[in-house]
Amino acid sequence: MSSVFRSEKITVVRIMRKKRENERIVCLTAYDYPTARLVAAGGVDLILVGDSAANVIYGHPTTLSIGMEEMLYHTKAVAVGAYPALVVADMPFMSYQTSVESAVENAGRFLKAGAEAVKVEGAGFVADVARRLVDVGIPVMGHLGLTPQSVHRLGGYRLQAKRPDDQERLVADAMALEKAGCFSLVLEKIPAELAARVTKTLSIPTIGIGAGPECDGQVLVIHDMLGLTETQPLRFVKRYAEIGQGIRRAVEEFCRDVREGRFPSWEHSFYLNEGNQ
Ligand code: KIV
Repeated sequence: MSSVFRSEKITVVRIMRKKRENERIVCLTAYDYPTARLVAAGGVDLILVGDSAANVIYGHPTTLSIGMEEMLYHTKAVAVGAYPALVVADMPFMSYQTSVESAVENAGRFLKAGAEAVKVEGAGFVADVARRLVDVGIPVMGHLGLTPQSVHRLGGYRLQAKRPDDQERLVADAMALEKAGCFSLVLEKIPAELAARVTKTLSIPTIGIGAGPECDGQVLVIHDMLGLTETQPLRFVKRYAEIGQGIRRAVEEFCRDVREGRFPSWEHSFYLNEGNQ
């Protein structure tokens, strides 16, 4: 397609401007080229190559198992199909927590693979990491609230920041991440009132997941919203399709057709007297 017909590229600058202009930001995860193409064509602003790949692609119970090599592999595939959406790569567990230097090196690998920004979970030392990444020219998305890479410290995938002192800490962490230069902040599974307060406090956009309707944007794991996960949808997930059931029905029909001799039929076959096609 000629570039004149291509939509305007979404950049981190544009994402930040959306908040100022009161425009909501839409984000979905993707882990491969065909999904990235469809999600971008559907009109999302941001595609997150989430470490949720550990759960929905590899079937693991937590995100801790996925590493740099797998995440780079998914990022490369997504980047090919993502235009005009902004591609954000999730930095996997232990790729940014051990030292600022290794975080810079690993984040750089994501940008070389086609990502345009990286996401990191938490604050404290992670805010220092974010500052350094931003200093060297790498846009950073923060992530607070339920941070799945800390699942064992948090004691499960529970609602976060219910106590007043935890709420104050989360607001302070959010401000520290903004000060460190993050261009946006994911808020996961926190009370809606707290997410609204953080959204009003910050000048960078908040992107919610299980954080109520008042964030500047929303993200979902694509397998959850398309009905590709086996478990019952969580409260904060809305199912927009039942693709999983569709796949299952199609496979069952294929099995019946092959076993009962309906596929392949003569129309799906080649013949001696036809040309090369
Ligand atoms: O890995 C992921 O998909 C995420 C989103 C749920 C925000 O971090």
